[in-house]
Amino acid sequence: MAPRILSALAFAATATAFPGSGSSFNATALFGPHVSSGTLIAAFSDPGFASVVGPRWSTWEAPTYVAAIKPATVSDIQQIVKIAGQHQIPFLATNAGHGAATGYGDVQNALNINLAHFNSVSIDVAASRMTVGGGTKFGDVFDPLFAVGKELQTGNTWCVGVMGATLGGGIGAFQGLHGLVIDSLESVEMVTASGALVKASKTVNSDLFWALRGAGTNFGIVTEATFEVHDYTNSGRVVLGQFSFPPAANVSVYSAVASFDRYIPPELALFVSATFNRTAGESRVNVAVIYFGPVADAQPFLDKFDALGPLAKVVRNLTTPDLFGKVLSTGVCNDGGRQNPYHVGLGRTDVATFSKFFGEFDTFAKAHPSYAAVVVAQRYSNVVMGQTPDTATAYPWRDIKTYLLFSNTYTNNSIEGDVDVASKSWRAMFEATSGFSTPHMYVNYDHGDEGPAAKYGARKLAKLRVLKQIWDPHHLFGTPNPLY
Ligand SMILES: Cc1cc2nc3c(=O)[nH]c(=O)nc-3n(C[C@H](O)[C@H](O)[C@H](O)COP(=O)(O)OP(=O)(O)OC[C@H]3O[C@@H](n4cnc5c(N)ncnc54)[C@H](O)[C@@H]3O)c2cc1C
Ligand SMILES: *[C@@H]1O[C@H](CO)[C@@H](O)[C@H](O)[C@H]1NC(C)=O
Ligand SMILES: *[C@@H]1O[C@H](CO)[C@@H](O)[C@H](O)[C@H]1NC(C)=O
Ligand SMILES: *[C@@H]1O[C@H](CO)[C@@H](O)[C@H](O)[C@H]1NC(C)=O
Ligand SMILES: *[C@@H]1O[C@H](CO)[C@@H](O)[C@H](O)[C@H]1NC(C)=O
Ligand SMILES: *[C@@H]1O[C@H](CO)[C@@H](O)[C@H](O)[C@H]1NC(C)=O
Repeated sequence: MAPRILSALAFAATATAFPGSGSSFNATALFGPHVSSGTLIAAFSDPGFASVVGPRWSTWEAPTYVAAIKPATVSDIQQIVKIAGQHQIPFLATNAGHGAATGYGDVQNALNINLAHFNSVSIDVAASRMTVGGGTKFGDVFDPLFAVGKELQTGNTWCVGVMGATLGGGIGAFQGLHGLVIDSLESVEMVTASGALVKASKTVNSDLFWALRGAGTNFGIVTEATFEVHDYTNSGRVVLGQFSFPPAANVSVYSAVASFDRYIPPELALFVSATFNRTAGESRVNVAVIYFGPVADAQPFLDKFDALGPLAKVVRNLTTPDLFGKVLSTGVCNDGGRQNPYHVGLGRTDVATFSKFFGEFDTFAKAHPSYAAVVVAQRYSNVVMGQTPDTATAYPWRDIKTYLLFSNTYTNNSIEGDVDVASKSWRAMFEATSGFSTPHMYVNYDHGDEGPAAKYGARKLAKLRVLKQIWDPHHLFGTPNPLY
C-alpha cells in the first residue's frame, strides 16, 4: 500500500496552498497526516483523480468535487468526517455511484469519499447471517450466497451499491418472498457526524436503526452491515419469460397486468416496460415474467402473456446469480450516459392511464430520435413486506404495489427540456390514478423535485428530524435527499 499512497500524495495538488474550508481546500495537507498509509488522496486537477474518485453512472446532475479521498480503514473514515466537519468542507461518500437525482447536483465543490475499499463479504452459513462492507455492490454477494445455498432479497442488478439501495429501503424481484432489503437488515456499524463509530440495531441505538431503514443516507456512513439471509428458493433456480409486443397490444397487455392488482403470488415478479425500437420504427410493450419456482408452476403466468400474441418470446430457466448478474443487468449497468429519471409509486394499474401514456411515449420517441428511454413498471407482491408494521421502520410506502420508473436517457442534450416537460406530465397523470391520495415516491428512484413528504412520508418526518438533530445537527449528510 505504501508506494500507492506516496504516488497519490505526490500528485495531490489543489487550487490553494494551504488547508482551507468550503470551496477550496488542500485535501492532502488537511487529511493526509491523519489517515492510514493505504488511503489515496487526489485533487480534481491531479492526473490521478479519476482513480481515486468514486465511479458515477449518470452524467446528469453530477456532483462537483474539489478533491477525492479513498480511505482504507474505518478509523480513516472517522478522521475524514471529523476533519471535514471542523473545516465545513461539504462531502459525499459514494460507492457504486448510481444515485441520480437533482440533489446530487447540489453537492458542489465537495470532497468525495470513495468507499471502494470496504468491499468485504463474509457469510456465516450455520447462523444464516452475512456481513458486508459499506462499499459492496449487489454483484459481490450473488455468487457467494448461491455457493452456500442462501439468498438475500437484493436489487435487480450487480452494479448497484448494497448500502445505497438498502438505506432507502431496497426493492427487487425477491421482495415478494422476503420483503424489502431493510427487512433483513439486522445491524450496522457506522460513522456519524461527530466522527464516532456506533452500532445500530433493533436493540442498540434503536431509534437510529429505525431512521436508517428508509432515510439512512441522512445519518452517516455505514462501514459494515449484517443481514439475515435465507435458504435459497427452488435450489436457486428461477424462470424468466421475456415477451415483446407490438403497439396495438398495449391495452391487452396492461389489462393482463392489471388482473394482478388484487393478488400476485409472492414468487412472481412482473416488469412491464415501454421502449422504442429504432430499427422497427415503433414502440414495444415488453413483459418480463420472473418466477422463483419450478417451470411447471410458472407456466400459467407465461401462458397468460403468450396468449396475447408477442412478436418475440424467450423463456429461460436460470440461476438467480445469472438472472440478476447477467440478464437483468444487461444494458443498465454502463456508466457515463445522461440519465434523468422520474418515478411514481402506484397502488393500482389504471389501464387507461397506461395506454394514454404509451401513445404519448410513442409520439414523443418518434419526434426525438435520440430519446432511448425504458419506462418500466415493477410489480411485486407486498404481502410479506406488509407483515412488518409501518411504524417499525422509517420506510413509508409499504403499500406501493408497482414502482414505475421513467429511465430517461438521450444523447442530444437539447431535448432535455422536452423530456422534462413530458416526464412531469406523465408522472402527474399516473399520480392522479395511482390509488393514493398523496404522492408515494421511492427515495432511491426520485427525480429530486418531489419534496421530503413524498420521499419520506409526512407522518415520519417529525421523528426523522428529531433524530437528525441528535445525530447530525449540522447536516453533514443527506444533501442528495434531505429531510428538509
Ligand atoms: C441501473 C440501476 C439499477 C437500480 N436497481 C435498483 C434496485 O433493483 N433496487 C433498488 O432498491 N434500487 C435500485 N436502484 C437505485 C439505487 O438504489 C440508488 O441509485 C442507490 O442510491 C445507489 O447506491 P450506489 O452506492 O450505487 O450509489 P452512490 O451514488 O454511490 O450512493 C448513493 C447514495 O447512497 C449513499 N451511500 C452509499 N453507500 C453508503 C454507505 N456505505 N453508508 C452511507 N451512505 C451510503 C451515498 O452517500 C449517496 O447518498 C438502481 C439504480 C440504477 C441506476
Ligand atoms: C497541498 O499540500 C501538500 C502537502 O502539504 C503539498 O505538498 C502540496 O504542494 C499542496 N498543494 C498545493 C496546490 O498547494
Ligand atoms: C427491433 O426490431 C427489429 C426489427 O423488427 C428486430 O430485429 C430487433 O430484434 C428489435 N430489437 C429489440 C431490442 O427488440
Ligand atoms: C432447469 O435447469 C436445470 C439445470 O440445468 C435442470 O436440472 C432442470 O431440469 C431444468 N428445468 C426445466 C423444467 O427445464
Ligand atoms: C394502444 O392500444 C389501443 C387499443 O388497442 C390503440 O387504440 C392504440 O392505438 C394503441 N397505442 C399505440 C401507440 O399503438
Ligand atoms: C438535438 O435536438 C434539437 C432540439 O430538438 C434539434 O433541434 C437538433 O437538431 C438535435 N440535434 C441532433 C444532432 O439531432
